[in-house]
Amino acid sequence: MTSFPDGFLWGAATASYQIEGAVHADGRVPSIWDTFSHTPGMVADGHTGDVACDHYNRYLEDVEIMAWLGLKAYRFSVAWPRLADLSFYDRLVDALLAKGITPVATLYHWDLPQTLQDTGGWTNRETAFRFADYAAVVHRLLGDRVGVWTTLNEPWVSAFVGHGSGRHAPGVTDPAAAFTAAHNLMLGHGLAVQALRAGGAETVSLTLNLTPILGDPEPARLIDGLANRLFLDPVLRGEYPADVLAHLERFTKVNVDDLPTIAQPIDVLGVNYYTVNRVVADPSAEGHPEYPGSEGIAWEDPHGEVTEMDWEINPAGLEDLLVRLSRDYPGTPLMITENGAAVPDGVSDPGRISYLDAHFRAARAAMDRGADLRGYFVWSLMDNFEWARGYHKRFGLVRVDYDTLERTPRDSARWYREVIARNGLAD
Ligand code: NOJ
Repeated sequence: MTSFPDGFLWGAATASYQIEGAVHADGRVPSIWDTFSHTPGMVADGHTGDVACDHYNRYLEDVEIMAWLGLKAYRFSVAWPRLADLSFYDRLVDALLAKGITPVATLYHWDLPQTLQDTGGWTNRETAFRFADYAAVVHRLLGDRVGVWTTLNEPWVSAFVGHGSGRHAPGVTDPAAAFTAAHNLMLGHGLAVQALRAGGAETVSLTLNLTPILGDPEPARLIDGLANRLFLDPVLRGEYPADVLAHLERFTKVNVDDLPTIAQPIDVLGVNYYTVNRVVADPSAEGHPEYPGSEGIAWEDPHGEVTEMDWEINPAGLEDLLVRLSRDYPGTPLMITENGAAVPDGVSDPGRISYLDAHFRAARAAMDRGADLRGYFVWSLMDNFEWARGYHKRFGLVRVDYDTLERTPRDSARWYREVIARNGLAD
């Protein structure tokens, strides 16, 4: 058997806008994703998060499913637009604790209140301070019961998909705005860490989407800088990498005096891993709008098998990534806060089982090579609103019927339940 250390935190993850629905309940205000999803042409087939999985009303049923799975931990996000009445999270956290499930709360999973977008959103430095105020309020309410706090989920996506390609809310396409947003997101992270610590939080983290960049060395170095080191180095080393800083200053100036705030010590780094990217030098290539200044670089098609997202299945990429993080940023324990696959719909989902099996083994191999990995959260507990792809892409261990909102555990859920029960994989 391939086993994991005692106390290894097996979990599953979700995010507020992707599952909750109930967008008008209890004083919730609109977020940028309400605006964006209601703008024709932005989300596949005009899907919105208005109802989603109706988790806001069905959370007790969902916590029952988590308990049946035997989850040790559940990663969810708090919706900033619900700031006027956060009592839903109070009830959710109590329900989790009653089942012995550790709540892992993310403070920002992309649903910025629209009112803050109206004053510039993440391109406005003020938003970082408002984020820290909000973090303090949530911590005051839940701090006595939430085990792990995560400030931001995937700031690269907020910055460069939100402001570079505009495929995500707020749908801006401006390279300078994207880099400014990246900086302000990191500032917001640092300020929120300070606010959480001031309230007595013990375990504080940040979740990054980290993507190994393979291919020609020179373009791979630049894209790795923009995708990965742009966030890792300021947060974990207190500096922008010199090559990344020189590159981004072609578009905007950032305030390097913020770096000590950004580099507040964190207790855990959350890693979201799905795939690798492959790049080659190609003088005729236009570049990619999510990597401003990448003219002359082309993205290769995935090698081998892909998921329904068209993402290459590459478990070795996870192993290498975890080993690299422990080598280049020693002293910060790691947690995989998301990994999983969109596969064709059905209760039978062998593709998801083999994807997870291979990635669990890769994580174990990385631990054998020295990576300090403490937990693993599968994305996702259940099918949900996959952003610009709407409800078409299904990542759930649990199937959701969007007509009836009925939940059905898939084969992968039964399989994962056994993995958790034995704390390992049968050989
Ligand atoms: C990362 C994001 O955090 C999550 O919201 C999304 O659904 C998954 N990736 C899959 O794309």
